[in-house]
Amino acid sequence: MLFKMKKDILTGEITDKLVFQNRRKIIKAVTATAMASFIPASMSAQIKKYAEIPLGPYSASLQVTDIEYVKNYTNYYEFTTNKNDSTILSKALKTSPWSVTVEGEAEKTGVFNLEDILKTNPLEQRIYRFRCVEAWSMVVPWIGFPLANMLKQFKPTSKAKYVEFTTIYNPNVMPGQRGTALEWPYLEGLRMDEAMHPLSLMATGMYDDELANQNGAPLRLVVPWKYGFKSIKAIVKIRFSETMPATAWNKAGPNEYGFYANVNPEVPHPRWSQSRERILGASIFTPKRNTEKFNGYGAQVASLYSAMDLKKYF
Ligand code: MTE
Repeated sequence: MLFKMKKDILTGEITDKLVFQNRRKIIKAVTATAMASFIPASMSAQIKKYAEIPLGPYSASLQVTDIEYVKNYTNYYEFTTNKNDSTILSKALKTSPWSVTVEGEAEKTGVFNLEDILKTNPLEQRIYRFRCVEAWSMVVPWIGFPLANMLKQFKPTSKAKYVEFTTIYNPNVMPGQRGTALEWPYLEGLRMDEAMHPLSLMATGMYDDELANQNGAPLRLVVPWKYGFKSIKAIVKIRFSETMPATAWNKAGPNEYGFYANVNPEVPHPRWSQSRERILGASIFTPKRNTEKFNGYGAQVASLYSAMDLKKYF
């Protein structure tokens, strides 16, 4: 997992939130100029659309990871298990038009165009910590909408206890799906109360732009108190179910990747400790960070698990 760092970020500095916000201001200014100059109207409209998205209520005041790391150090096994190569390989995936099939225990099922979903789900920005099960972490300014808002629109029935998400299956453009790294298509799931929690986000963008293909365009899940593998990319199907979904990583390694996958420094992965994390983009001299239970979102989500033994339901 060698990562070819860009020269300008060799120092391993992390972008300060202030710098990121100043960049937003600059983008807005550039957009205003672009309106009256030679940048095509469609392009300036897109820049404007993303740069003006309001900061949502759950954003924390944190240092944002340099975008170059977030875009070029990715996990996307449908393309490759190499974290650097999915940037190029995933360009082959056509993400527009895009539709999402809704099935199972809901009143409103069927096939929905992403464009229509977006018309009724206003976007906001959320700056979230993100912790991978591999013990590295980052801070990402996502753009998206609360998962709960969209799920409510499908009117789940009282039988809906879980919600299952599936990634597109297309081995012609996703070479990893011709192999057996995981059982395809990639499938993830949440308990209904987790899915309806206001922190759960459906992301369509990040860093004032649309999601890059390698980061899960055009629609991915972000659940900040869980390990990153729950944050499934390129979602084409949502199914409400009465029973717990059999998820891709849980099937691949039931003793290593639980269904809940809540970030928990007290429960080691069988092959490594989860007590500390490497900060993506930080210099080799930066000490590892102590991992926080629920990735630091305990005040918001711990009550969802008050009756559970988190060592058993890991
Ligand atoms: N979703 C799909 N469809 N395929 C994947 O391989 N990898 C997961 C998750 N979502 C993955 C996925 C893992 S292991 C992590 S840590 C995060 O995506 C990484 O997100 P990022 O690549 O945008 O950093």
